[in-house]
Amino acid sequence: MANIIVIANQKGGVGKTTTSINLAAALGQLGKKTLLVDLDSQGNASSACGLSHDQATPTIYDLLLGEVDASQCIKRAAEDGFDIIPSNRDLMAAEIQLLELEERELILKKALDGITSRYDFIVIDSPPSMNILTLNALSFAESLIIPVQCEYYALEGMTGMLESIYQIKDSVNPKLDLLGVVRTMYDSRNSLAVEVSAQLKKYFHDKLFWTFIPRNVRLAEAPSHGMSALKYDPNCSGSKAYLSLAKEVAKKTMES
Ligand SMILES: Nc1ncnc2c1ncn2[C@@H]1O[C@H](COP(=O)(O)OP(=O)(O)OP(=O)(O)O)[C@@H](O)[C@H]1O
Ligand SMILES: [Mg+2]
Repeated sequence: MANIIVIANQKGGVGKTTTSINLAAALGQLGKKTLLVDLDSQGNASSACGLSHDQATPTIYDLLLGEVDASQCIKRAAEDGFDIIPSNRDLMAAEIQLLELEERELILKKALDGITSRYDFIVIDSPPSMNILTLNALSFAESLIIPVQCEYYALEGMTGMLESIYQIKDSVNPKLDLLGVVRTMYDSRNSLAVEVSAQLKKYFHDKLFWTFIPRNVRLAEAPSHGMSALKYDPNCSGSKAYLSLAKEVAKKTMES
């Protein structure tokens, strides 16, 4: 059975999508059968995987509304060794349409339950808010990874998010656990980043991934080439860090 990992943080621009794509690519390189699910109406993960607008249909929107089944939505990331269920702006409408359905937080789980046995890992990229889509991802996943940028406001909002997660664990999804917090866009020459990193260590202990993702321009360039950084420049510091993160993820999920 696949280990289902959601990458979430209500804060925007912290590296959720970059982490989703490169973690999926790195797990793929480790020989793990991996599916990336783009659950954000911005569709950033889909375009970053080289799927043009036409190739990217049917989407997760069609799947959530029951118009197609999961197998019909699965595409191969053009340059990388993983599968993807794409998304586009249609998904904005789903945020409202799903609210009208029964057991609305379990729609993603019901839609994907039939294909989880085909994969070792399912990685879900989520939007920068705690909306019905994020709730669906958290109701389906067993592992949560929170990417955090080591900035002044980084810890703000995390307590609220952790509370929501414990509520979800207590009500709909007892399997859900925090797999880890990962520091993104990290610059060790920045003293504030080092200070925030120390606070994260104190608060999260072994739930803070040992690997941190450095600020690396190759990670920002790769999406415009329609591929992960691991494919675009395997030797850059960002790619090496995501490979190391994937090894940590594989080890931690085996232990749990
Ligand atoms: N380690 C990094 N080094 C350099 N640039 C990065 C790094 N990680 C992410 N970026 C860049 O920072 C921006 C935000 O990253 P990303 O899109 O992954 O964040 P996000 O959390 O998914 O954003 P949103 O909340 O809008 O979905 C992007 O332009 C991305 O290319
Ligand atoms: Mg994103």
